[in-house]
Amino acid sequence: MRILVLGGGWFLGPAVVAGAVARDWEVTTFTRGRSGRVTPGATAVHGDRERPGDLARLAEEHGPWDAVIDTSASALSSRDVLAGARALEPVANRYVYVSTVAVYEGWPTAPLSPDSAVWEGLAGTDQELEQPPAGASGINPVYGRRKAATERAVVDTFGLARTSLLRPGVLLGPGEYVGRLPWWLDRARRGGRILAPGDPSRSIQPVDVRDGAVFALDQALRVGHQVHNLAAPTGRETMGGLLQACVDTTGSNGTLVWVQDDVLLRHGLRQWTELPLWWPHPGTSAIDTSSASQAGFVSRPLTETVTDTWAWLRDGNRPVPHRRWAKHGLDPEKESAVLAGMSY
Ligand SMILES: NC(=O)c1ccc[n+]([C@@H]2O[C@H](COP(=O)([O-])OP(=O)(O)OC[C@H]3O[C@@H](n4cnc5c(N)ncnc54)[C@H](OP(=O)(O)O)[C@@H]3O)[C@@H](O)[C@H]2O)c1
Repeated sequence: MRILVLGGGWFLGPAVVAGAVARDWEVTTFTRGRSGRVTPGATAVHGDRERPGDLARLAEEHGPWDAVIDTSASALSSRDVLAGARALEPVANRYVYVSTVAVYEGWPTAPLSPDSAVWEGLAGTDQELEQPPAGASGINPVYGRRKAATERAVVDTFGLARTSLLRPGVLLGPGEYVGRLPWWLDRARRGGRILAPGDPSRSIQPVDVRDGAVFALDQALRVGHQVHNLAAPTGRETMGGLLQACVDTTGSNGTLVWVQDDVLLRHGLRQWTELPLWWPHPGTSAIDTSSASQAGFVSRPLTETVTDTWAWLRDGNRPVPHRRWAKHGLDPEKESAVLAGMSY
């Protein structure tokens, strides 16, 4: 099996490459060569997806492949994804596209299945860049609209029968550069009274990056059109379970102090980022993953993800520096002020 990984250097990409190499597959990676590190065992080719000529050169000099696994389109326009797909279509049998649950109009307020409505917009135009209407949650859906248009770029080019669209919720695990689980682990390690958001029994659905990678590789072998949400099974994991696992894993002397949503909102705490994974919207924890399970997706227990991420950090590993990291986490003074019941 010969695969092309568009990406490969930050988080999901290395897990995909490592998994493919472990299967004795031949792997080519394509990145700009600016950041991150490509896992040994792959042939690393450098170029920029925003320059169509670079992908044409990649296709000509390094193809053909049995499948493309695309993990690097998080910031690309559908125009660029379309141009890239057109360059690769003659030299690749299948395209596995890593998208996101943000493509659904209902995210994060409504329960989601693969049949839920997806943001509209033609691929390859700049429609997705127009000022979008706010979603039902009031959240600006610019990322979701862009990813929906890039999904369409892939399907329009490779056709339904040769495409897999994978829509993860939140990915956690060793290598995470966004700063969600690393922040909670560090907060637990510092101990003391730890502000824990909302209700400990609230369901959350993060998925381990390594499980996402295994499934992406399996999808490279599939035929027919596949569309799957990737998340932990509904109702299995909770916010309380996550935070207790962080306390236990780090050997912390910390105490979780649960503070209700309305108090946090009154204090103006930023949902989702200031307290990572805290989002009171019901849709955040109502992602239907049954189609993925039926197709063989296995999501390991969150405690294992927590333990392994802590071990990875304790071994001195650090994720690739990324602008999203700085947006995550709560200032200690603000945490103390909220816990003391004062306004900040
Ligand atoms: N993290 C989450 O919770 C989450 C949730 C839902 C969906 N997702 C999706 O999962 C995927 C993220 O995977 P990842 O960031 O971990 O992937 P990755 O493949 O590990 O990292 C992205 C790679 O893309 C390369 N790259 C960036 N811009 C490029 C360009 N213009 N041309 C060529 N290469 C480029 C980067 O290297 P260089 O800088 O060297 O080019 C880097 O190696 C995205 O599609 C994202 O939408 C993530």
